[in-house]
Parts: sequence; structure tokens; C-alpha cells
Amino acid sequence: MDILHPKAIIGTNSWGSAAYGKLLRGSSVDESTTEAAMQLAKEKDLLIFDLAQDYGLGKAQKMIGRFGTGDVYISAKFTPSGKYVPGQVRKSLARDLADFGRNYVDIYWLHLPVDIEKNLAEIITLYREGKIHHIGISNFDLSECMKAKAMLDKAGIPLYGVQNHYSLIARDWEKNGVVSWCKDNGILFWAWAVLEEGMLTDPRVKTKGSIMKLIFSSKKKRLRPLHAAMNRVGKRHDITIPQVAMAFCASKGIVPICGCRKPSHVDDLYEAVNVRLSPREIRFLETVADKVNVKILGADMFRFAVKN
Ligand SMILES: NC(=O)c1ccc[n+]([C@@H]2O[C@H](COP(=O)([O-])OP(=O)(O)OC[C@H]3O[C@@H](n4cnc5c(N)ncnc54)[C@H](OP(=O)(O)O)[C@@H]3O)[C@@H](O)[C@H]2O)c1
Repeated sequence: MDILHPKAIIGTNSWGSAAYGKLLRGSSVDESTTEAAMQLAKEKDLLIFDLAQDYGLGKAQKMIGRFGTGDVYISAKFTPSGKYVPGQVRKSLARDLADFGRNYVDIYWLHLPVDIEKNLAEIITLYREGKIHHIGISNFDLSECMKAKAMLDKAGIPLYGVQNHYSLIARDWEKNGVVSWCKDNGILFWAWAVLEEGMLTDPRVKTKGSIMKLIFSSKKKRLRPLHAAMNRVGKRHDITIPQVAMAFCASKGIVPICGCRKPSHVDDLYEAVNVRLSPREIRFLETVADKVNVKILGADMFRFAVKN
């Protein structure tokens, strides 16, 4: 696998915490199931694992450290919170490296566009020390992306990627130019939550109730025409509704990050990103999505945390 051309990324937000699993997803899975998912991902050459300190209520990073990180790529993040304190990124990365049992991470993202110059300056220093191999930015709008890229250009370092929320029903970053800016500049666009917290899955497949499902259940009902359209397109390619959501991203040159805590999730993702939807199918899905006009997470849902 080439880290500059990944087909899909394994998300770990749902790894590890039984409380998180039960409350937010309706059920928890044991550690051996997630370890089997990781093993299968490696066999399928899906080698990049996306992490952050708070994933799985703080358990995901420690878990992957236990599983072993020697033969995978680690994508980790610095999440700014509160007032900037010099050395905060170095301190946070040291904690990550201890979790991973590593002396470097493959990709390191500034999680929010907060104190961009100060945090990025620290990230650049850590990159030069070899502790970070690629630099990305997450939840940045176009002007913030440009600002970060200008800083990295000055330092002679390429911007690896932009990691924002994107899905069939949240295509704002495409409509406002971020996705094409990335493409024009050879920067990857990674999409998080392409399944919209499970709302872009088959309503006929019954799963256990959870807080998330309760909050979004009325919206999921309004998505029925889109589910029907996804089902129609999926049937042509012999893939399921959630796989259409994944294939949709992959077919547009966007890298989907999918929350995979079970081996079946990995199988689905692997199959889906090897399917190419036609331009006509893409247009059809987008037209229906625009018509239902349902917003679940919203493209820029962490903007409230950006106080610059
Ligand atoms: N940069 C950022 O700010 C940011 C923010 C959020 C997330 N992320 C990254 O993006 C990743 C993905 O986001 P996410 O985990 O929140 O949401 P997601 O992948 O869009 O959706 C997760 C939900 O989809 C279900 N699911 C996953 N694969 C499925 C499949 N093949 N068939 C049916 N259902 C399936 C899960 O089921 P189960 O309930 O069975 O697990 C879960 O309910 C995270 O793990 C994280 O790495 C980044």
C-alpha cells in the first residue's frame, strides 16, 4: 500500500470502550473482535488506522498499542483545547507515541483550526525531528487550508491531506471548493463519517437501539427515498446501502474513513472501495440526496470549538 494513494482508512473512534459502544452504537464488541478486524484489514492491505486521544473514550490508542503497530500506518492528531501553551503539541505527541509503542507517527493532523501558526510551527519542528512523517489538517475551511499550506510551503514541507466531514448528504466541502483545491494541489481529501453515524445504512437491517439512533431516528425516516436510490444503485454492483455510501466517496477520488470495529465492517469497506460508480449513478444519488435535504452531522460540526 502506498500512503500517498490510500483507498480507504480504518476509523477507530468506536474501538475499545464498552460504554461508548453500548450508549452510542447500541452494542459493545470485545477486544478480540476488534483485533480480528485489524488483522483482516492488514490482510486486505488497508493499512492506515485513524486515531485520536479521545477515540473510544480514550481507549482506542492504548488498544492498538497492545495489538502492535509495527506493520501498519498510524494516523494521529493534535486536538487543541483551551489557551495555547508552548510545547503542548510535543507533550501530546509524546503521550501518543507511548500509547503506540513507537518513536514516530506516519500522519499527524492538526485536528481543529485553532492557533494555526503556533500549533503548526510545533508540528513542523517535530516533522523535522523525524517524529512525524506527513502533516495534515482537519476540520479546516478553504481560507484556513490556504493559510496552513502557505506556512508549510515556506518550510518546504508538503501538506499531506485535509480530513473533513463529507458524505453523500454532506457535500459542502465539495460545493465550496475545498475538495477541488485539494485535487488541484495534489493534497488528499479524507472524509470522516461517510455513513453519517449509521444513518446511511439499510433501514431494513435491524440493530440495537442507542442514543445516536434515538436522536436521528426521525431524520433516518426522511432519508427513505435516498436509501431506496442507494439500494437501486447498489443492486447493479451487488453491494449494500452502506457500501454505496463508501463507493460514492471512492468513485469521486475522496478517501473514506470508516468506523470498523468488526471484521464484517472491514470486508464491506474493502469491497466497496473497489467498486466504481458511473458518473450517471453519482448524479442520480446526488439529485436524490439534495431533494431529501436531510442534515445529520453537518459538514462543519466542530466550528463551535474554533475560537480564534
Ligand atoms: N477528524 C475528525 O474530526 C473526525 C471526527 C469524527 C470521526 N473521525 C474519524 O472517522 C471515522 C469514522 O467515523 P465514525 O466511526 O464516527 O462514523 P461512521 O464510520 O460514519 O459510522 C459509524 C456507524 O456506521 C456503522 N457501520 C460501519 N461500517 C458499517 C457497515 N459496513 N455496514 C453497516 N454499518 C456500518 C457502525 O456500526 P457499528 O455500530 O456496528 O460499529 C456505526 O454505527 C472515526 O472512526 C474516526 O477515525 C474523524
